[in-house]
Amino acid sequence: MVVKEVLSIRGLKKSYPGVMALKGVNLAFKAGEIHGLIGENGAGKSTLIKILAGIVKPDDGEVTILGKSVQIRNSKDSSRNRLCFIHQELNLVTYFNAAENIFLGHSYPRRLRFFVDWKRLKAKTKEITDALQVRIPLDTPVSYLSAVDRAMVAIARAFAVSGDIYFMDEPATALTDIEKEKLFRVIKTLKSQGKTVVYVSHNLDDILDITDRITVMRDGTVVECRETLETTKDDLIRSMIGKSLESAFPSREGKAGAVVFKAGDIHNESIDGLSFDVRAGEILGIGGLVGAGRTELLETIFGARGKDSGTFTLNGVPFRPSSPRSAIEQGVVLVPEERRKQGLVLSRSIYENISMMSLGDISNFGFLNHRVIRNRSEEAGEKVRLKCSSYSNHVGTLSGGNQQKVVFAKTVLQEPKLLLLDEPSKGVDVGARFEIYSIIRDLASRGTAVIIVSSDFNEVLGLTDRILFIKEGRMVSLKDNIDMNQEKYLNCCYGRDS
Ligand SMILES: Nc1ncnc2c1ncn2[C@@H]1O[C@H](COP(=O)(O)OP(=O)(O)OP(=O)(O)O)[C@@H](O)[C@H]1O
Ligand SMILES: [Mg+2]
Repeated sequence: MVVKEVLSIRGLKKSYPGVMALKGVNLAFKAGEIHGLIGENGAGKSTLIKILAGIVKPDDGEVTILGKSVQIRNSKDSSRNRLCFIHQELNLVTYFNAAENIFLGHSYPRRLRFFVDWKRLKAKTKEITDALQVRIPLDTPVSYLSAVDRAMVAIARAFAVSGDIYFMDEPATALTDIEKEKLFRVIKTLKSQGKTVVYVSHNLDDILDITDRITVMRDGTVVECRETLETTKDDLIRSMIGKSLESAFPSREGKAGAVVFKAGDIHNESIDGLSFDVRAGEILGIGGLVGAGRTELLETIFGARGKDSGTFTLNGVPFRPSSPRSAIEQGVVLVPEERRKQGLVLSRSIYENISMMSLGDISNFGFLNHRVIRNRSEEAGEKVRLKCSSYSNHVGTLSGGNQQKVVFAKTVLQEPKLLLLDEPSKGVDVGARFEIYSIIRDLASRGTAVIIVSSDFNEVLGLTDRILFIKEGRMVSLKDNIDMNQEKYLNCCYGRDS
């Protein structure tokens, strides 16, 4: 059987000041295939997708759809060519509700030509969400929805119109395993209908699991394109970063020191009587399923969420953060899950963002020493393998993964007493992920106490010393991370282990 190429790209180029994001990319997608697109942070994946969406204008190159050369000057051109998108940044209008977002840019159903037919809009939205088997509150402004629901809105939007090729730029980073399975089911259905799905992800297990072919990009070029059945994870890592990774996690060393942080019988709307402590040099994982209260626990410690009763102690003295700012001032730092939303000022420079929280340290009698700020920011940036052409560029110009690294670099500069990490490696490429793990270990070995929440249980198993399992805000068990494996871990999450 000859499979037609539905879309091919030849000589695609795009440069930004100081960086050539695409250096002449050649690539082709076939009908009825799930095509993985992978590469390190900053490799050019999103730029390529934004060009096909008509959001970014290329400098040069040709796009051919079903053998015909096409011009994609804007998003209308793109939808006319039946291309659908889930962008990395979701691009939702946060004060619109889910239904409005899903049909945004498409024509809303109308009554008498002028009036939006809200009833039909909602009914049509429900059809789409039912097909996805998800329940999203349809009347609530998107800004009030959880990260998972927001991601599902963006996904549903891609399915609101029918297309031939679906581009999904890291659609699953905010999803739980359950939603991810639903998404994969939809992707497979699209494939069975002869449609093409281009799937971008740093989760190589997912890529190997669902794709038929995989294209690897590096530094704005295509390194290779392989059949998924003929490749391994190690092959992919090698062609992505140019070398193998011996081990995914840094080795654990040293003993935990004195107790740094203590929580005593904490209660609020999400937490129901939690007590535990973390020692200097220790990495404590919080295990549990989505909805167990893990993120809420971190936010409560960070002063972003109030508590009804209970006590915190930091280095032996009562710790009562009235706000995140006061938590930071006392040496407690949170790296939130949604970094773009909570951790960065996109219109400020990279070095300003990195040094933002630690200015107190670097200022000299109230005067900022800009050279020191720059040097220290660059040092921290290098530690996380930040890829940028200049530290004076706005953070908004960085690739998604590199923006995450900025938040991390910022944290590293502070040497916190207690570091709270919510999904520390989401959206970060495999090479940088190892660097981030090493930094966490390194901070711990210098005395920081670390609490980490991650839905990737390999990460929890590979990185932590102890794991506190919680369910519905209550402690299920507290385990030393010895002889743990996936099965035991999941049992503990479900509370099946006493
Ligand atoms: N608006 C912009 N202004 C300047 N540089 C940009 C802009 N958008 C992207 N770049 C640069 O282009 C390069 C490619 O970025 P791109 O977002 O395509 O990477 P990516 O492969 O999607 O990475 P990630 O895995 O982190 O999402 C990066 O060096 C990035 O900093
Ligand atoms: Mg990207």
